[in-house]
Amino acid sequence: MSPFQYHSHLLHAESVPLTRIAEQFGTPTYVYSKSAIVANFEAYAKACRKHAPQADATLICFSVKSNSNLAILQLLGQCGAGFDIVSGGELLRVLAAGGAADRIIFSGVGKTRDEMRLALSHDILCFNVESIPELHRLDAVAGELGKRARISLRVNPNVDAKTHPYISTGLKENKFGVAFDDALATYRIAAALANIDVTGIDCHIGSQLLDDAPLLEAVDRLIELIDRLAEEGIDIHHLDIGGGIGINYEGEEPVAVGAYLERLFAKIDTWRTARHGGTPIKVLFEPGRSIVGNAGLLLTEVQYLKDGAAKNFAVVDAAMNDLMRPAMYQAWHGVQEVQKRPNAAVTYDVVGPVCESGDWLARERALSIAPGDLLAIMSAGAYGMTMASNYNTRGRAAEVLVDGQTLHLVRRREAAAELFALESLVG
Ligand code: LLP
Repeated sequence: MSPFQYHSHLLHAESVPLTRIAEQFGTPTYVYSKSAIVANFEAYAKACRKHAPQADATLICFSVKSNSNLAILQLLGQCGAGFDIVSGGELLRVLAAGGAADRIIFSGVGKTRDEMRLALSHDILCFNVESIPELHRLDAVAGELGKRARISLRVNPNVDAKTHPYISTGLKENKFGVAFDDALATYRIAAALANIDVTGIDCHIGSQLLDDAPLLEAVDRLIELIDRLAEEGIDIHHLDIGGGIGINYEGEEPVAVGAYLERLFAKIDTWRTARHGGTPIKVLFEPGRSIVGNAGLLLTEVQYLKDGAAKNFAVVDAAMNDLMRPAMYQAWHGVQEVQKRPNAAVTYDVVGPVCESGDWLARERALSIAPGDLLAIMSAGAYGMTMASNYNTRGRAAEVLVDGQTLHLVRRREAAAELFALESLVG
């Protein structure tokens, strides 16, 4: 059940009316539900406990890029999460939030030497390596530091994730990973490098997947590779299937996490029993959206109602710089009136104040609103704040974590002066 429900015609986050959050912290503000985040994480954790109960048999690495607020990382760390990072900045965030370095995996196609040094100095669990040049660079950097780097190769299984082309990553033409047909040869190179320990295999085929069939197909391809590697004496200790499970934005019905994990572990168990006498393999996940997406909304205030020649516009104080997804992917987010009015609804495009025609948050929505009313842009907990920018010198939104009746301001609103504090005049 959504943590955002109406009580007496007023939309609440857990037990708090959103009007109170706007009064206390202003708008636009991202609002997250602690109980929803914990419940979403627990769906993974519970299925892991059920299907792979041995200690250390699984690790759920929250994908930090989906929501990197320190309080959320702290909360997930306390729930037992590991972390999937893609930059040195994300590594420092996880550590600042109390996350354990030995539960961090480092993904991404463009790791710099500095980022490698940082990650090696903290002894992270694994680098998800995406190319041969990256392998050589990592080997050299580890050698300079007198360290060994644990690696997994991100293999591109060439399955169609059947999602938006911008967020589909497992096909041949994508920039990600090592082509399936090159994987064996790349593993041989890795295994021969002096400062590299081959420990895993990984993939991530795309995001907002509604069906688990492409994920299970990807697993088939990865286990085929693990067997071929074993024949060559290269032992794979962990299998990382990436993230990707979708959420309900517009009535979609994504596969339930429990059902997906049940099928996944059944497949892995059958294979391990047949081929390897049941020797366990550690299974890693990298979920982002399915943990935080539906646990957050963006609270905004209607500034003006404008009757255009062809359309009506509700101009709100949130914009594309706060929530980039509609402008970037034509993504659909639900819009809910915070105070339900009895008046007849009018159809509006919900737009922000930024000077771009692409600055819209929702199109053609029937809303009963007046200037000064609050709107909630739903399902904004993933890839919302993390993709926000300061375009038009707009300070980024505040972020509030709701826990029952309690409000925690987990990021204060940016002040304008802070936005140009790093700049200098010439002369
Ligand atoms: N692992 C890797 C290597 C990834 O690239 C991603 C997401 C994830 C895990 C987490 O995937 P999730 O469970 O959240 O689907 N900005 C886009 C989404 C980009 C996803 C990028 N990679 C959006 O707003 O829809």
